[in-house]
Amino acid sequence: MVESFRHLGNADLIFGAGRISTLPNLIPANGPVLILTGNHFPGTQVWKKLESAIKNRGLELIRETVSGEPSPETVDTLVEEARKRRTTSVVAIGGGSVLDAGKAAAAMLRHEGSVIDYLEGVGSRKPKGKSLPMIAVPTTAGTGSEATKNAVISRRGKDGFKKSLRHNAFIPPVALIDPELAVGCPEDVSLSCGMDAFCQILESYVSTGATAFTDILARDGLIRFGKGSRLFTEKGYGSPDEVDYRSELALAAYYSGLTLANAGLGTVHGLAGPIGAFSEVPHGVACGLLVSPVFKFIAEKLEEVGNFKILDRLAYAGAVLHRGADAVPKRGDVEKLLDRFDEWAGNLPHLSDYGMKEADIDSVIAASSNKNSPVSLDEEERRKAVVDIF
Ligand SMILES: [Fe+2]
Repeated sequence: MVESFRHLGNADLIFGAGRISTLPNLIPANGPVLILTGNHFPGTQVWKKLESAIKNRGLELIRETVSGEPSPETVDTLVEEARKRRTTSVVAIGGGSVLDAGKAAAAMLRHEGSVIDYLEGVGSRKPKGKSLPMIAVPTTAGTGSEATKNAVISRRGKDGFKKSLRHNAFIPPVALIDPELAVGCPEDVSLSCGMDAFCQILESYVSTGATAFTDILARDGLIRFGKGSRLFTEKGYGSPDEVDYRSELALAAYYSGLTLANAGLGTVHGLAGPIGAFSEVPHGVACGLLVSPVFKFIAEKLEEVGNFKILDRLAYAGAVLHRGADAVPKRGDVEKLLDRFDEWAGNLPHLSDYGMKEADIDSVIAASSNKNSPVSLDEEERRKAVVDIF
């Protein structure tokens, strides 16, 4: 018997190397388009071609740069400017921060007030679910934000937060994923984005909210991540296989957005969120560091309570990462999975390398949670997981 579920996703998914060329014709022609990018993209040949193709269609284009994770002020300023120019659609081309800024701007152009009024756990207003047409174009294989219904808005520091503007209507109607856009992305960024995508897939695969539909995506996502992660382990950067690896990672990251949005995440993300709010640690680095200590606790607890259904899922993940898509999982594969996490974490800096202070650990633990983890880590265990990677 299939348990009931609901699955939300983009209305239109366009995937493939070179497909960025289709973007100009996807933009609605009824008014100016706000295009958000990161710092690097406007200097590329790809952008120059896009810009002239969009202008050749007779469209007015407003391009703005988004640096780092968007704050409420960033979004409000973008919206104010775009409103003056009577913007009718939004395109975001970049990493998760740029996509989240684009999703928030598209939404707030149809809402009154500041975005902070609508953030979960911060503001008191509920989003009405109106949004301008929006096209999400990821250039890193990480957050899967192109598939999700929330935009993460953060404020750093003592009173920091990392909260979501969320509504089903905020899923970008169009996701355009071209793996070639990630070619040239620095190795450390590629690795930390990959760690985020991997954790999102694994956490949603073992989530209490997993569905028949997210299970298919998660299993294929693990296989694709296994192939694509050769970019990191076999130094595929600059090799003839780079686009191959990046296309596997891009699809895995897209799946991870769908699975996290529909199944939910676990303790790795329940800790990574507050770490990002109280420090400058990049989200993917936090995920890549946390996955080892958190999943060691989870595997132990699953053994204790005899939850073999979830242990089998961890064994599956270990098997396909080590031996490929056709591997038959064995119980020892859980150990192999945990060993692989240690290998990945060995290539990442620690929390203190980003200036995080020991005093911040208390605030992180107080704001942390287990989300939809199959077993819960108590406060002391969560603290130990953070101290381990400090
Ligand atoms: Fe994430």
